[in-house]
Amino acid sequence: MWHHLCFATLTTRPTREVTGLGREMSDDRQAHWDSVYSRKSENQLSWHQDDPGLSLELAELTGLSPESSVIDIGGGTSRLAAALRHRGIRDISVLDLSAVALKAARERMGTAGEGVTWIAADVTAWHPGRCFDLWHDRAVFHFLVDEADRRAYLARLEEGVCTGGHAIIATFAPDGPETCSGLPVARYSPETLAETLGDGFQPVASRLDLHQTPWGAAQSFQYSLFRKAS
Ligand SMILES: C[S@@+](CC[C@H](N)C(=O)[O-])C[C@H]1O[C@@H](n2cnc3c(N)ncnc32)[C@H](O)[C@@H]1O
Repeated sequence: MWHHLCFATLTTRPTREVTGLGREMSDDRQAHWDSVYSRKSENQLSWHQDDPGLSLELAELTGLSPESSVIDIGGGTSRLAAALRHRGIRDISVLDLSAVALKAARERMGTAGEGVTWIAADVTAWHPGRCFDLWHDRAVFHFLVDEADRRAYLARLEEGVCTGGHAIIATFAPDGPETCSGLPVARYSPETLAETLGDGFQPVASRLDLHQTPWGAAQSFQYSLFRKAS
């Protein structure tokens, strides 16, 4: 069934390590995503959206202002950074495993992208070294199907969100696709995601979304907004 596939061709199979993330696994993941972004145009990427409206709606609930700091985790070629810049936000970072995606995103933003911090890294191995008022992740956390990877991500989330700051995490919903880009995903409801994040992140709001791929297939997502407890 169309809606149970998130479409982009797999070229390399990530190696699985017994103990968490190794360089080999990270390199394989990077090669996979670089290959996807090198071969496909945006309208061939199932996750592409012209307007990150739901992310912005939830971001507005956090009291976003030009002084807010925001990081888009696995931002790829998303329009979110441009939309945030348009709203006057100055401190914007975009992290992605794929340098190919970041280059395309930076080039498309033109001069508006000059003040953006572009970080080519695997989120499970990266060290934020600072905190952000808002952490945004659309369709990245759900790729972490190994417990060690999830734990590594959650440690970065804990370090990377300021106390009282917020996180928006959008994943496939329980009736969403079982794979994306040829990779398995873990699907979440707002409740199971809140359970996964634990007591340190309080659920604030959630939305269900039927994303339309560029070729008109429907994919079920959940978007959850959390506040990091003081
Ligand atoms: C399905 S795409 C979503 C892109 C973007 N968030 C959007 O909504 O358009 C997943 C993105 O996550 C990136 N990614 C996958 N695994 C990652 C990881 N472990 N660390 C950082 N980025 C990752 C991929 O390169 C890709 O850009």
